[in-house]
Amino acid sequence: MRILIIYGTSEGQTRKIARFMEEVLQKKGHQVVIADASKDPPEPTTFDAIMIGSSIHMHKYHSAVKHYVIENLDILNRMPGAFFSVSMAVASDIEEEHQEVHNIAMEFLAKTGWTPHEVIQMAGALKYTQYDYLKRLIMRMIAKKQGRATDTSSDHEYTDWKAVKKFARRFVENIPAEMV
Ligand SMILES: Cc1cc2nc3c(=O)[nH]c(=O)nc-3n(C[C@H](O)[C@H](O)[C@H](O)COP(=O)(O)O)c2cc1C
Repeated sequence: MRILIIYGTSEGQTRKIARFMEEVLQKKGHQVVIADASKDPPEPTTFDAIMIGSSIHMHKYHSAVKHYVIENLDILNRMPGAFFSVSMAVASDIEEEHQEVHNIAMEFLAKTGWTPHEVIQMAGALKYTQYDYLKRLIMRMIAKKQGRATDTSSDHEYTDWKAVKKFARRFVENIPAEMV
């Protein structure tokens, strides 16, 4: 199968997830192309399935991902698709934070009109070493509230790689033969 993975990222964690899924699917014999939504990504037309992902920053997905979905909406809604949302709230101990990112994803899909077959929330990372002073301060405060790492001398990854692998495989295995 030919699979396209499009992603939007700020500190690189969503790219890392996209690359990991690329590897997982290549090992299963699929042809995979991955592209940053902000760097002239290919159209979905020549692919059998698509996975689109974005991290959440300030309660929003990347605008390049939003534009990609809107520009390609007709074809996206006619092909097997999955949306993966990357955030820190989903790694939080606070239930309302999970609800909040769920709502952000649902609102994004409702606003763009995209109806993917699968939607998944994935935990991202705290990249303290990449943040400037103010960002590091804010992210440390948020992390403390969420019960996450506050040691700003290193980065902290919360992505569940086993769950990501399972998701990528399941999405592709569940694509009905008549849709390819
Ligand atoms: C400035 C900033 C704002 C963020 N805002 C949110 C947010 O509103 N909700 C959330 O759950 N996570 C938020 N995060 C956490 C990111 O979603 C998380 O770090 C993710 O791994 C970033 O992925 P990326 O490296 O692909 O951009 C924020 C992170 C930063 C640095």
